[in-house]
This record gives sequence, C-alpha cells and structure tokens, in this order.
Amino acid sequence: MTRREVNAGILAGAALAAAPALAVAQGPTPRDLPPPRSEGGQPLIAALKLRRSTREYSDRPLAPQVLSDLLWAAFGINRPSGDRTAPYWRHVMVIDIYLAMADGVWLYEPKTHKLLPYAKDDFRAQTGLQDFVAAAPLNLVYVAHGERMTDVAPEERRLYASVDAGFIGQNVYLFCASEGLATVFRGALDGPKLGRALRLPDQQFVTFAQTVGYPRD
Ligand SMILES: Cc1cc2nc3c(=O)[nH]c(=O)nc-3n(C[C@H](O)[C@H](O)[C@H](O)COP(=O)(O)O)c2cc1C
Repeated sequence: MTRREVNAGILAGAALAAAPALAVAQGPTPRDLPPPRSEGGQPLIAALKLRRSTREYSDRPLAPQVLSDLLWAAFGINRPSGDRTAPYWRHVMVIDIYLAMADGVWLYEPKTHKLLPYAKDDFRAQTGLQDFVAAAPLNLVYVAHGERMTDVAPEERRLYASVDAGFIGQNVYLFCASEGLATVFRGALDGPKLGRALRLPDQQFVTFAQTVGYPRD
C-alpha cells in the first residue's frame, strides 16, 4: 500500500481480504460485531407478506446488533462446514459484501463475523444513481471475484455472480421485513466507476447494491 492510496482513503485495497493483518498493522482495526442472534424474528410467511422495496430512509444509524444480525442473515455462516445462509455458485465463494457507511467502507468477513476496514471516506453517494443512497445509513455493495470463476467464459461471469448477489439480496429483504427495516436492491449504479473509486483489484467487479435503513417517519 502506497502513501498515495492511504491519502485517497483506501486502507488496504486488494490485499485486505487475503491479508487482513495488513490492514490491522497499517490502519484502523477490524470492528467486532456482537454475535448474531440465533432466535427471534417473524415467521417466514409474515416476513414474506411484509417484503417490499423502500426508497425513503431515515438517517438513523443501525445499531451494532442489527448490523450483526443483518450480515449473518445476508451471507453468514450457518453450518459447521462454513457454508452460508445463501446458496452460491459451484461452491466457489464469489461475492464479497462491502458496507458503505458514514464512517467509511468496511468489508464483511463471515468467518470471524467482523468488519474489516477498507476505506475511511464516505462512499455512500457513489453507490447508486438515486438520491436516497447518500443519506441512508448503509449501502451494501455486492462485489464479485471474477478471477475465481476460472472455467467460465468472461461474459457469463456476471450472470452467475448476479444470481449469487440476488440470493443474498433476498435474504436481506426478508430480514428487513422481519425487523421493520427498509431496503431496496439496486442495479441503478455505475459499477465500473464505483469499482474504480474503491480501487477494486483487476477482475473484481460490482454487481448490485442494496440500501438498508429505517423507513423515514
Ligand atoms: C435486479 C434488480 C434491480 C433493481 N434495481 C433497482 C434500482 O436500481 N433502484 C430501485 O429503486 N429499485 C430497484 N429494484 C427494485 C425493484 O424496482 C422492485 O423490486 C420492484 O419494483 C418490485 O417492488 P417490491 O420490491 O416493492 O415488490 C431492483 C430489483 C431487482 C430485482
């Protein structure tokens, strides 16, 4: 990591997922999340009845427990095998979840259930083309590792990565419905521009984003 990258707000860039210790040594430390709740929530049918997209958000931040539960529901580990709450293509972990919040960009690490620091600046406004994204407390950005999809034609990588992101997105929708949170899955974004702003490594690309927050009163 160069001094220039630090100045640009990128704390660990490409090396982060592979070597979080680098980020610890050179920037803010990973953020602990409380253990996700293993009980509670609305019955599935009730959550399905409530599921919807919302585009008006309060700027109230999400409490740490809510963030923890949300991320676990989205793509957390739900079995001793290390597998996840959402199905994924060919047992290859393609999607990373980045969190764009007022205090910077964080990368969700499901194995330790922590947030790894990624960038110190507020990137929320850059995660979409709609105004509400700048003020909502959280925008999840679903980033795909194209380089892990080795035996797939490049033009098909986006297809499988998008399906993986869609499953995660539906988990988020159902969690939000259950918890009285607002959310919307979003394709209206400039993925290449956002990828450049985040300095994603070559072959990683933004698929979709999803805003989460409390509904505006
Ligand atoms: C692939 C995909 C992309 C979407 N992109 C956007 C988007 O960029 N902005 C937005 O406001 N809603 C977006 N949506 C949400 C849809 O508009 C919404 O799900 C649809 O209108 C049905 O409304 P409901 O979710 O309230 O049932 C997207 C949904 C999907 C599945």
